[in-house]
Amino acid sequence: LDLTDPATFPAMQAAREAFLTHQWHTTPLIAPQPPASPSPSQGEARRGYSDAVTLTNPATPTDTIGTVANATPTDVTTAITAATTSPWPQTPATTRANLLRATADLYEANAAEFFALLAREAGKSWADSIAELREAVDFLRYYAEQAEAQPLAAPRGPFAAISPWNFPLAIFTGQIAAALVAGNPVLAKPAPQTPLIAHRAICLMHEAGIPRDAIQLLPGAGEVGTALTSDARIAGVAFTGSLPTARRIDRAMAANLAPDAPLIAETGGLNAMIVDSTALPEQAVRDVLASAFQSAGQRCSALRILYVQEDVADRTIEMLTGAMDELTLGNPWDLANDIGPVIDEAARTKIENHVAAFTKAGKLIHRLNAPGQGTFVPPTVLRVTGIADIPEEIFGPILHVATFKADDIDAVIAAINGSGYGLTFGMHTRISSRVRAVSAQVHAGNIYINRNQIGAVVGSQPFGGEGLSGTGPKAGGPHYLPRFTKGYADLQSA
Ligand code: NAD
Ligand code: ALA
Repeated sequence: LDLTDPATFPAMQAAREAFLTHQWHTTPLIAPQPPASPSPSQGEARRGYSDAVTLTNPATPTDTIGTVANATPTDVTTAITAATTSPWPQTPATTRANLLRATADLYEANAAEFFALLAREAGKSWADSIAELREAVDFLRYYAEQAEAQPLAAPRGPFAAISPWNFPLAIFTGQIAAALVAGNPVLAKPAPQTPLIAHRAICLMHEAGIPRDAIQLLPGAGEVGTALTSDARIAGVAFTGSLPTARRIDRAMAANLAPDAPLIAETGGLNAMIVDSTALPEQAVRDVLASAFQSAGQRCSALRILYVQEDVADRTIEMLTGAMDELTLGNPWDLANDIGPVIDEAARTKIENHVAAFTKAGKLIHRLNAPGQGTFVPPTVLRVTGIADIPEEIFGPILHVATFKADDIDAVIAAINGSGYGLTFGMHTRISSRVRAVSAQVHAGNIYINRNQIGAVVGSQPFGGEGLSGTGPKAGGPHYLPRFTKGYADLQSA
């Protein structure tokens, strides 16, 4: 979108209005089977919607957006059989790359519908929706370019792509695009909260010309993922989601898949930012606000704990809470709203329980108000003594704040590293020697200095963590594709 053209955005808003009450319907998308072996569970046409689940808008529970009929265990087996016999691995790399580019063009041509889905199914604001579609398109074009720029070794075989709801288009597309362009047929399992976006994306991949046996869709909850990771014909798994789920998948793969089947896992974080007394406070506050509260804090990269030097803590917190009061929560369909809902009632309850426990202990610093309906969680600031006070990743707009003395910065870094996570880290300072020292000490995949710590850009900021935050290689970077091929071990030993 050329947002510098004053006509562009109003035209896009008008185009999106056509989908204000649209209903989408999703079923498994499984490659048609040869007529010689008919199966009662083959193909998407077999299903009526009688076993479908209704999906609603998290901002407006009365807004029904469509239905999903989830994959059965038989669907999973049928789809894996189709993937195993797919001729996709023999397709030339340039053809595969061009099919990704054709998909990117179709994504752009269908932007208004994606924006409607991102708002109504995933609760995404306008800004987040635009960024998400751009990232999905970037992944398609970047991996197409990478597949031609570097000689890739042989494909591995059928890949399971298991994705989260918080980037239901970008991460869903990125995993699939990488596995596909490396020559692997893909079984895509979207998060149960966002199957409609996933379905639309796969339909566009098919429309672009990617064969139905090369990319199949298996909507459903964790059981569908378990069925995939229990089938010895799966040659590798690309997973993005929470740490507990990654551990379950790792165990299932160890028990069921070939020993060399890779798990490419991107998980969560307890991401920290340090603001010292030399930081420019207005800039730091602006970046804390974006890092902690944009996307209602539902980014793996989001800031969870701010360490602010005690000499400037009172002033920084006062400015921060003042700036928070300018944020507006509400239906993300409305451009005026900065922050939408969290994804569902289960997420809201978990976050609210955390806030309630801290509030009871007298640790509440500041909190906004939430609209009356919808699964909104107001941005909240809680006081902690350090990262060890946070029991786990709290996946919402909750910022914890701790103070530190100037001489204690090494202890702060040790505590951050001690969490075991290592996804993003931010620092605001004007001491360049400190930037170098802290960057060398801190264990984090993505380090951001004097800016916010979200929104890594495909191709220029490869994204991924270390420790409990992920296995690598980083998505959106040049080392990602080889992991989907048989050449990765050679690359590592070289
Ligand atoms: P989740 O772990 O609950 O689910 C992720 C996916 O795994 C879903 O599709 C889910 O159905 C599936 N799944 C659940 N149990 C499974 C099992 N036993 N076997 C196979 N698949 C199974 O995560 P979520 O709530 O959807 O997403 C939020 C989490 O994702 C947060 O922890 C966040 O930090 C993380 N995340 C990480 C990154 C990153 O790049 N590091 C990006 C986005 C989100
Ligand atoms: N890549 C996403 C970000 O950087 C998760 O925020």
